[in-house]
Amino acid sequence: MQITVNKAQTLKEKPDENNLGFGTTFSDHMLNMDYNPDEGWHNPRIEPYQPIVMEPSTMVLHYGQGVFEGLKGYRNPSGGIQLFRPQENVRRLNRSSKRLCIPEIDENVVLEAIKQLVNVEKDWVPGVEGTSLYIRPTIIATDPFLGVRASFTYRFFIILSPVGAYYPEGFNPVKIFVTRDFVRAVRGGVGEAKTLGNYAASLLAGDKAHEEGYTQVLWLDGVEQKYIEEVGAMNIFFVVGDEIVTPELSGSILPGITRKSVVELGKSWGLTVSERKISIDEVLQAQADGSLREVFGSGTAAVISPVGEIKYGDKLITIGDGSVGPLSQRFYDSLTDIQYGKADDPFGWVVPVSG
Ligand code: PLP
Ligand code: COI
Repeated sequence: MQITVNKAQTLKEKPDENNLGFGTTFSDHMLNMDYNPDEGWHNPRIEPYQPIVMEPSTMVLHYGQGVFEGLKGYRNPSGGIQLFRPQENVRRLNRSSKRLCIPEIDENVVLEAIKQLVNVEKDWVPGVEGTSLYIRPTIIATDPFLGVRASFTYRFFIILSPVGAYYPEGFNPVKIFVTRDFVRAVRGGVGEAKTLGNYAASLLAGDKAHEEGYTQVLWLDGVEQKYIEEVGAMNIFFVVGDEIVTPELSGSILPGITRKSVVELGKSWGLTVSERKISIDEVLQAQADGSLREVFGSGTAAVISPVGEIKYGDKLITIGDGSVGPLSQRFYDSLTDIQYGKADDPFGWVVPVSG
C-alpha cells in the first residue's frame, strides 16, 4: 500500500534531550489511515501532527472502543535508527483489535507505516543515553452514533514522542502498592488486550497508591485476589532462590513483549525461568525465609525497573538493600545493549529503520 507524505511547512523546536520525561512532546508528523466497510483500511498518509476533529457523538468517546500499542525507536552507535521486535507489537495490536471488534490491519502495512513515519522523523530520535523515540500506534472507533455496537468506521494513527525514563526514579528501585480494594481485570474480560478502558479502570487505585507514597499498583487476580498479575504499566518478575518467576499468561494480563524477551534471555543464559502462578503469600513467605532475592518489572516504557519495596495491607516487603540487584542489572544491560545496537543481536530482535 502506498503511503502518501505531506510534509509540515514549519518544524517545531526539539526539546532538551537531557530533560525529556515521558510522553510530553510530539514530533512534527503523524500517520493517519481510515477504515470503512466499503474500502477497508485505506489512504495511509503521513501528514503534519494535528488535532483529530470529531463529532461529540464519536463512539470511542462514549464506549472506549479503541486499542493502542507502545514501542520504541533507538539510536544506535553508528547514528542509525532501529526498532525492537516491532512485529510483536503489530501482532498484539491485531489481537487487541479482535477482542474489541475492530477490523484487523495487514501486519506488513502497519510495520511499513511505523518504519516510514520514524524515517521521516529520524531527527526526533534522541541520542542521549537512556532516551528513545516512543511510538504510539492507536485505533479508535469513529462512527457518530450513540447505540452500543461495534463502530463501522475507524481511524488508525501513529504519533511519536521523544522520551527519557518513564518513572521519575529512573533505574532506581520503585515502590509498589498491592491493592486489595480494586481489581484490574478478570479472565474473559479485556485485561489481555491493550485497550483504553484498562488504563481508565486503574486510575483510582493508582491515585491511592500515590497518596501512600507508592509509584505503581501491583494487581492481584480478580477472582481470589491471591495471585499476582502485573503492575500498571509493566509485567513483573520475582527471583526466588534460583528460580525466576513471572505470572503465567492467564488471559487477564498483558502479554508483554519485554516480558517475553526477559523469559527468552534468561533461558538462553541457562537460568530457570518459570511462567506460573505466584501468590502474594508465596512472596511473603520467600521474604520471610530469605529466598526472595530480587523483584523487577518489565515494559517498553519502564524497560527493566527494579522494585525495592512492596506494600501489602499492613505488611511491608523490602527487597534487598535498596540497591539494584545483579539479575535486574544483567537483564537491563543485555536488553538495552540489544535495543540500542551496542551488542550482537543473536535473537534477530532488532529491525533497522535507517542507516
Ligand atoms: N502490562 C501493562 C498493563 C502495560 O501497559 C505494559 C506496557 O505496554 C506492559 C505490561 C509491558 O508490555 P511491553 O513489554 O510489551 O511493553
Ligand atoms: C508501554 O510500556 O508501552 C506502555 O504502554 C505503558 C504505559 C505508558 C501505558
